[in-house]
Amino acid sequence: MKAIFLLIMFQIMSTIKSYEFTIEEATIDEIQTAFNRKKLTSKDLVQFYINQIEKLNPIYKAVIEVNPDALDQAIKADQERKDNTTKSHFKLHGIPVMIKDTIATKDKLNTTAGSYALLDSLVSRDAGVVNKLRESGAIILGKSSLSEWAHLRSSLAPNGWNARTKQAVNPYVATMDPCGSSTGSAISVATNMVTVSLGTETDGSILCPSSANSVVGIKPTVGLTSRAGVVPVSPRQDTVGTVTDAVYVLDAIVGFDTNDAVATGDASKYIPKDGYLKHLKPGGLEGKRLGILRAYPYFGFANDSKTLTKFEKHFAILRQSGATLIENLDIINFDGIISMFNSESIAILAEFKIALNDYLKDLLASPMRTLADVINFNNKFAGLESLEKYPQDLFLAAEKTNGIGKLEEEALMNLTNASVYGFEKLMKENKLDALVTPYSDSSTVLAIGGYPGISVPAGYDENGGPYGICFGGLKGSEPTLIEIAYGFEQATHNRKPPPMSINCDQ
Ligand SMILES: *[C@@H]1O[C@H](CO)[C@@H](O)[C@H](O)[C@H]1NC(C)=O
Ligand SMILES: *[C@@H]1O[C@H](CO)[C@@H](O)[C@H](O)[C@H]1NC(C)=O
Ligand SMILES: *[C@@H]1O[C@H](CO)[C@@H](O)[C@H](O)[C@H]1NC(C)=O
Ligand SMILES: *[C@@H]1O[C@H](CO)[C@@H](O)[C@H](O)[C@H]1NC(C)=O
Ligand SMILES: *[C@@H]1O[C@H](CO)[C@@H](O)[C@H](O)[C@H]1NC(C)=O
Repeated sequence: MKAIFLLIMFQIMSTIKSYEFTIEEATIDEIQTAFNRKKLTSKDLVQFYINQIEKLNPIYKAVIEVNPDALDQAIKADQERKDNTTKSHFKLHGIPVMIKDTIATKDKLNTTAGSYALLDSLVSRDAGVVNKLRESGAIILGKSSLSEWAHLRSSLAPNGWNARTKQAVNPYVATMDPCGSSTGSAISVATNMVTVSLGTETDGSILCPSSANSVVGIKPTVGLTSRAGVVPVSPRQDTVGTVTDAVYVLDAIVGFDTNDAVATGDASKYIPKDGYLKHLKPGGLEGKRLGILRAYPYFGFANDSKTLTKFEKHFAILRQSGATLIENLDIINFDGIISMFNSESIAILAEFKIALNDYLKDLLASPMRTLADVINFNNKFAGLESLEKYPQDLFLAAEKTNGIGKLEEEALMNLTNASVYGFEKLMKENKLDALVTPYSDSSTVLAIGGYPGISVPAGYDENGGPYGICFGGLKGSEPTLIEIAYGFEQATHNRKPPPMSINCDQ
């Protein structure tokens, strides 16, 4: 007989009815219900996840550090619930969250972007989004692994590799790309090492690992969530997002932050007054206009009949759920628009150097104060940082840039132009609520314009490898995208836990 070690059941025998609760795969709502029925404590929940990390993390490498204070935070949350404090009624109260290692926490956890170079640095304060999580009563369980420096160090390093944890592994199919850069954020949720997690996305870093590891991922409009205290790539494109039970977390982390004032000030107009929760509603797909392009890479299904065949059943579900599919759309001057996508790397390399140097300067203490310091560190400690295998070509290219000059300005103009004549024109002229794309293929389209996207599990290939479907929209369209994504999820329920996380002894 095979032991099913993870299926922890909380059972009560009451005279009226029995109530069963399973931590694994439990939603925030189910966990809160179990808390309120006194069938679960935050302490038990945190302990469950810590055991889970001990057992699974040596295989999957999704977690870099566990918070030594997590159990104490859980005990405090349990007391607050007992005392019936106002805070204890918040949706995220007592819920453990895993934080990508680029997001600063001012506690015992280090914030290193996966690199030993930042191990002895001290952040000045919690990142804006962490501050909001703490205010909402969430428990910071630990730091999740990532593609080192959000994949800005080496073009040769595989997704999910960093010097500190080495290579993260896809829990569904070990040989499948786990994708990045928020690799550990997706895997830790997929394998039930935590309830929810935060990631960051510059181009594809949330959408892609969500698709590859069968979890829901929301990449919000740039500026909707504060980037203050986040190891940056490009402030123009960076956004903090969440994987699974995503809407509760989104509700908690959006909003103005004095330390990221311009962007969060601009985007705060997009936040619905009564939050995002009410958009998790039945019938969310009814009347929605969804665009599908069958012959265009980046914007849709790139003349790829295999992928199209795979997704036809999803199109049918969307139609049956009341959406109108606007199909076979065209993009005028497609080649011209695509050629401007190449400007993304020119802009990002220059923006990265400026933003990283600012971030490093702001640290309370750090042996690294500039990108040049980090490059020198890597040169000195080649063993630790596997420099021979994964040279720091992107770092070196970024270091060569010198601010936003003529070239970068032209690149930025190209990106704006590509967005205005590409995605915005397509969405507005066809009055689309969302563009439907496979996997994270549209990540660049959404990235260069700062647009939001939600990835939802769509199915599994014959080998068991997961794939997602992505709904992308114009800035501030999160409420609509949430209705669409929720409608699709309710109609399909595609999410399955990975085999290993259920039965480790197999
Ligand atoms: C807890 O507080 C809420 C108001 O915040 C109140 O409605 C509820 O009755 C209280 N529950 C208990 C058990 O005291
Ligand atoms: C943070 O890094 C230091 C090494 O500089 C280490 O001693 C400490 O355990 C780390 N913190 C956690 C929570 O792992
Ligand atoms: C898609 O394929 C068709 C037929 O082969 C071709 O005419 C069209 O140009 C292709 N579209 C793109 C965007 O490559
Ligand atoms: C801007 O786009 C044009 C047209 O695709 C291209 O030729 C040019 O090199 C781009 N400029 C930059 C700086 O990327
Ligand atoms: C912007 O893009 C459009 C469509 O690709 C093109 O016709 C136009 O010349 C571009 N304008 C600039 C300023 O690059």
